[in-house]
Amino acid sequence: MIVCEFRPGLEDIPAAQSSISDVDGHKGILEYRGIRIEELAENSTFLETAYLLIWGALPTADQLTSFEQEVREHRRIKYRIRDMMKCFPESGHPMDALQASAAALGLFYSRRDLHNPIYIRDAVVRLLANIPTMVAAFQLMRKGNDPVPPHDELDYSGNFLYMLNEKQPDPLAARIFDVCLILHAEHTMNASTFSARVTASTLTDPYAVVASAVGTLGGPLHGGANEEVIQMLEEIGSVKNVVPYIEDCLQRKAKIMGFGHRVYKVKDPRATILQNLAEQLFAKFGHDKYYDIAQEIERVVEEKLGGKGIYPNVDFYSGLVYRKLGIPTDLFTPVFAIARVAGWLAHWKEQLAENRIFRPTQVYNGHHNLPYKPIEQR
Ligand code: SDX
Repeated sequence: MIVCEFRPGLEDIPAAQSSISDVDGHKGILEYRGIRIEELAENSTFLETAYLLIWGALPTADQLTSFEQEVREHRRIKYRIRDMMKCFPESGHPMDALQASAAALGLFYSRRDLHNPIYIRDAVVRLLANIPTMVAAFQLMRKGNDPVPPHDELDYSGNFLYMLNEKQPDPLAARIFDVCLILHAEHTMNASTFSARVTASTLTDPYAVVASAVGTLGGPLHGGANEEVIQMLEEIGSVKNVVPYIEDCLQRKAKIMGFGHRVYKVKDPRATILQNLAEQLFAKFGHDKYYDIAQEIERVVEEKLGGKGIYPNVDFYSGLVYRKLGIPTDLFTPVFAIARVAGWLAHWKEQLAENRIFRPTQVYNGHHNLPYKPIEQR
């Protein structure tokens, strides 16, 4: 029995009931558990926001302190996982390395005690704590260096930048990175979160849920766009080349990376906040000519496609912030994954409570009752 017509990409089809986040795509509003993203970016930290998303309310001071301490204590990854990562090819994409490493956590911790709150908290803490260490470790190992052990004195974001760049980060850089993680933590029923929920609905372990979501996030139409935006800026090379480049894209009906969104038909509020963060970094650490190119692209695309609701999304300015923080381009999407683990875990818990396996239907448009044709007659 089919209750609604087929919609490619499930456009506008509710796939779950959720209280984790909400987006008003016409007003450009994003809320996590009812709190506006601008409020959280201004006042919160990534771990506090992760707690809010996963457990449904802002933590008390004691709850936050113990949560931060538990994550700090679990930052180190098992030597056997590190040794496994040493076998990965240096030329491999860090998102593939992350997907394999996240899945490997399941070999050590899965147990699948899904109704035990202690198991659930352990999985949440371990995944939030281990994923950044894995990303940084892969980066150092592919450069031929030994991974740097976590720095117990630094907070979540400061420690990641320390493990990645092998030096203590500037406090402003660490704070701006933490805000980037807040902005990327959750976004209703995006493709990777949907993937996480489908995987969670089979009652598999949370490590498989995150590995499934990482694989989905890596595509250029989803989390992989931030890397493509920088490649586009480098290809354009100067402000005067923007108009011909964009006109050529439109001529070829090619998608302009970092623009457009299934839900937002105005500028993504996260893009606006990221622009402000980029300007703070440029003021302190020096300007980036690619920012001028990016602003010209935004002006031209708004002129030509604004009428169709095509505006910058979260991926358009994030790469400029990450470049200034010394993060290599092909780590932009793994950084997106570090943040989105919080949202995926929140949806994992919500899906467990829903307790119903995803099994949609289809509109069949193939043949019926065809005879089997022997191979010699084909
Ligand atoms: C993220 O879902 C989420 O919430 C995702 C995310 C999150 O936080 O999880 O917000 C993160 O994934 C952001 C999106 C990053 N991807 C990109 O920047 C890649 C470029 N963007 C497009 O591929 C596209 O806009 C999507 C995939 C993001 C949305 O695609 P839709 O909703 O399926 O839109 P569509 O492809 O059906 O396009 C509708 C029209 C088409 O024109 P017509 O055929 O109707 O004439 O809009 C045009 C498209 O050609 N269009 C674009 C465009 N995006 C849509 N034209 C030029 N450049 C673009 N980027």
